[in-house]
Parts: sequence; structure tokens; C-alpha cells
Amino acid sequence: MCGIVAYIGKKEAYPIIVKGLKRLEYRGYDSAGVALLNNGDLNIYKKQGKVANLEEHAADKNRSGHAGIGHTRWATHGAPNDVNAHPHYSEDCNIALIHNGIIENYDAIKQRLVGNGYIFKSETDTEVLTYLVDDIHKNAGVSVAEAVRLALQQVVGAYAIVVISKDNPDQLIAARKSSPLVLGIGKDNDFFLASDATPIVEYTKKVVYMEDEEIAIVDLNEGLKLYSIDEVEKTPYVQELELQLEALEKGGYEHFMLKEIHEQPRSIKDCFRGRLNAEEGWVSLGGIKDYEEKMIKANRIIMIASGTSWHAGLVGEYLFEDLARINVEVEYASEFRYRNPIITENDIVIAISQSGETADTLAALELAKSKGATILGICNVVGSSISRITDAGSYTHAGPEIGVASTKAFTAQVTVLTLMALSLAKRKGTISETKFRTMLSELEAIPQKVQQILDKNEEIKIISEKYQDASNALYLGRGSSFPVALEGALKLKEISYIHAEGYPAAEMKHGPIALIDEEMPVFVIATSGTSYEKVVSNIQEVKARKGKLIAIVTEGDDQVDNIADHTIEIPDTDEHLVPLLATIPFQLLSYHIAVMRECNVDQPRNLAKSVTVE
Ligand code: AGP
Ligand code: GLU
Repeated sequence: MCGIVAYIGKKEAYPIIVKGLKRLEYRGYDSAGVALLNNGDLNIYKKQGKVANLEEHAADKNRSGHAGIGHTRWATHGAPNDVNAHPHYSEDCNIALIHNGIIENYDAIKQRLVGNGYIFKSETDTEVLTYLVDDIHKNAGVSVAEAVRLALQQVVGAYAIVVISKDNPDQLIAARKSSPLVLGIGKDNDFFLASDATPIVEYTKKVVYMEDEEIAIVDLNEGLKLYSIDEVEKTPYVQELELQLEALEKGGYEHFMLKEIHEQPRSIKDCFRGRLNAEEGWVSLGGIKDYEEKMIKANRIIMIASGTSWHAGLVGEYLFEDLARINVEVEYASEFRYRNPIITENDIVIAISQSGETADTLAALELAKSKGATILGICNVVGSSISRITDAGSYTHAGPEIGVASTKAFTAQVTVLTLMALSLAKRKGTISETKFRTMLSELEAIPQKVQQILDKNEEIKIISEKYQDASNALYLGRGSSFPVALEGALKLKEISYIHAEGYPAAEMKHGPIALIDEEMPVFVIATSGTSYEKVVSNIQEVKARKGKLIAIVTEGDDQVDNIADHTIEIPDTDEHLVPLLATIPFQLLSYHIAVMRECNVDQPRNLAKSVTVE
């Protein structure tokens, strides 16, 4: 959940590192720091707050050097402040280290080091690892690289680290376990390391996605050496990056989140490109084709995820059960991994994750794998940890999602789940050819229908103005719109800090209705479909208690319009595809309310884009 950037080569390291850290700030922004090797000196600058604070702090300092490491932090041990900021360094300032992850057994190691005379400056687990490396380097008389390897053998937890030292000015040492680390091979005998490819892509497309318990030594004289933590040399698997630089810029939008909301016509189209043809009547998900038979015969399919991705899984449950008649359970990964679940080799487990690095989801997947289940993935980041440990899977191809609040990744995940459900239903014969063809055509029409809703941005912004000062909000939906209600509530609370809850519309009577008064905005999905009349009744119940009603309705609806305070019309579509459309107004509503409340939309407080710690 932090951002790591490191460079060694002929260029000046500082500008590369700072620019890269800004690209990774979405991963955490409690503090930032750099360590730069220059003519035998290791200059370390670090500051609480965002990268801009670090730049201001270092503005009048020596920022020269052709080797350096940089870090933007999301704190797990020790408050966000200057002392706890990374890099951490040995007492003689010979070694500096940056770290993404958690050293779970840090306290025991710390006690031992205190006994060896070490005096800790910070509260972090990372400083413990730094001193451990230093202690081994000095007392065992081994190289820094060997000291890193030996230290990591004592560590329990997650790490992506880069180590720089005055002893070896021509090399950087990197290692990872459970936290991501990408190595870029430059064109000019230079090397880049980062938490993901975004800081690297403008310099080189040649990357190595480091594997768990791998150690990399990049040396200006020796080149790249890769080996396992038990010293087995490994051949680096160099891949060509597909990422384009312009995908990382805001493209004229005020925030990445707004850009990504407006990218959805394209991202949904990219998601089903080559996987769907309504005219010829086929769906094809190449990544899981070999597993479809197993999925059809499985006792059940368990979907594991966190946050927004968990909401996508809930939509998937409605789709798989209704269309393909397959039993689905959707689990919070963080709960699943610790409740000693019953998993057999007849189970299929699908992990849904935008980043592909969420620690809870990764751990739950590893548990399922250890119990013999077939594990599949739906990820957005190519080469991410989850995508690499699964037996198979489907990428969502939504492009980099920089805004912490997930938007286009959600609709892309739902698109993949819809394609999966249709493909399985077709194979199983649980869907008629007519229904199948209709849904394919409707799915192909979704991007332009999303655009029609995006074109209502100003209308939605006007509605947002009326609710920017709300303290609470309720989101209601039925059927596959219930997960969309949950998602709408999450969007609002995570970027505007307004407390919001999502509920099945019928559940309101079982408690939440007590909250309804003239101060309570209630956002309801009341689109045409099997439960429409029931939802209208729920709307009446809210109005009877003076609640403020904002309803998402199907174009042409003339019933709800007479009851609700505001209606937002969305194009008609097959009921199974409503989640892809109904979520768009909620994304825009939460975005505009957050901007009006002057919240940090792309980097909300306390949050990070990729939760790679428990
Ligand atoms: C979504 O808006 C949140 N930022 C968060 O809930 C996110 O969906 C969750 O952390 C899961 O992330 P993942 O999809 O990368 O696994
Ligand atoms: N556990 C380390 C700390 O709290 C690293 C956190 C991170 O991944 O940013 O400093």
C-alpha cells in the first residue's frame, strides 16, 4: 500500500524518483522520502505528507546522484510523521531501505537488536528490518546483498524492499514477498524498480515482474542478477509492457476519478472486445475456456473480493445463479481466510481484484489453492500477484485506474462476470438462444447507453448540489441493483466522507426506516423490471416519512417521477445489465458532492488504492 521507486544508471535519480512517486501516490500518501547516493554520500530527505512536501523540503538540498530510492508511505506501524517516513537507514548511514508491507515478527527482532545495542529512532517495523540487515552485514561480515537475503529469511510478513548502500554505490538490492515489485531494464545500462509499471513505462517497456521470495541485484557492472531467497539463481522473465504513457495522465479532466468515469464507454468496450459478437451469436473468454466445463460441474463457485470488487461479485452471484443456474457464494476475502472455510477440490474460487494485489484477497486465494480448489482471477493489472497465482482468469482491460475510488474497474468487472455467466449458461443450455442473442445485443449497446447517462452530467451535478451538506444517506435497490446500492453508498462515503449505507429496498422496513426524516436523502434504483412495483411501494414508504428521494428510473417512467424529489433517467436495457448503467449516476453524484465539499477526490483521507497489508 505504499509506493516504491528506485533508479540506478547514468541519469539523475531524483527527478525520476519524484515523478514516479507522484504516479504512485494513489497507493498511499502519509509521507514521502528519498535516499540519494552522491560521491560517497548517502543523502536522505523525508517529510510527512504528500510528495510535494518532500519536494519543498529538498528544494535547497543536494539532490544530485545517479542512484536513489524513494517511497510514499501508507502507515501500518507508527504515525505518519517525518521520523517514521521512509527511507530508514543504519546508524552509520551506510545502508538505506524502503519497504512496502508489514514485518509481522518485527517486535521480537527489535528486542534482539536492542539487546545488541541498537537505538531505534522510529516506531516502524521497517526500521527493524533495516537494522537487522545492518547487524548481519557488520557481524557476519557478509555483503549487503547477502545480509538482505539472510535477514529476509528471518522475517515473517509481507515486503517489497529496495536497499541502497555506500559500500556498493553501483548496485541496488531488491526483494519481494506478497507486496508487488516491478523491475525495469533501461536502454542505457540503467535500471528502474517500482511498485507497479507506471513510474517505469516512459523510460522502458522491458520489465520483470518479480516473484515472491525473489531477490534482485541490479549492478552497473554486473547487470541484473535474480535469485531465490535460498540462493537458487533464476533466469529473469523479461516482458514487454503494454501500458501507454497517456493513459496515466488526467487528459484534461480535473480529477482522475472523473476521467475514469468518462472512460467507461471505452473501457467496457475494451473489456468485451474480441470476447463477444452479437451478430454471430458468440461469447468467448479465452482465459477461462479450459475451465468452463469444471465451472459448470462445480458444487459451487465462491467469489472472494474486497470493497467495490466484492460488490461486483454480488452482481455476479445474481447473474450466475439466474442465467447459468450455478450456486454462487460471495465472500469478503478478509473474513473467508480466517473462518476456517470448508473448501474442497470440487470448488471453484474466483478472486475479483482491480489491483490484483489486495492482501486479504491474495491470502484467501492462497488458502483455497492449498485446499485443492481451482482458483481463477478477474484482475485489471496485468502481471499482478493475483493474476499470477491463479490457474486461469480474465483481465478486465479497463486501463490503469488511478483514482482511489474504483469506477471503471467496477463496470469492467461486472462486464466480465456477465460474459462468464452468459458463456456458462449457453454451454449448460440454461438460456434460450433468443434470450442469449438479445443479451449479447444489449451488452454491445451498453457503451453508448453509458455515454447517454454521462451526457446528463450537468443535470446530475445540479441534483448533487442539493445534497452536498447531508450528514447521512441511504441507498436502496432490489435484485442485482442491491449491490449497486451498496456500491453507490461506498462511493459517497469514501470520497465525500458522508456516512452512507446501502440496503435491499425491502429491508428498509426492518430498521433503517427509523432513520428517515426530511434530512435524509434516499437514493433508489427504481428501473423497470420484476420488482418495479415493489420498489415503488418502498419509495412511497420513504415519502410518507418526508425522506428526500432521488430515484434512478428507466427512460419514459412517468410513475416514480410524480413521487420522487428528483429522478435520473437511464436507458432501458435487459434487467441483468441494469447494474452497468445504474451505477453511473451514483458515481457522478458522489464525485460532484465530494468536489463541492472540497474533498480530495483522487486521494481520499486514510485510504490507498491498493490495500497490500491486512
Ligand atoms: C473502491 O472504491 C475502494 N477503493 C476499495 O474498496 C477497493 O475496491 C478494494 O480495496 C479492493 O481493491 P482491489 O479491487 O484492488 O482488490
Ligand atoms: N509497514 C511499513 C510502515 O508502516 C510500510 C508501510 C507501507 O507499505 O507503506 O512504515
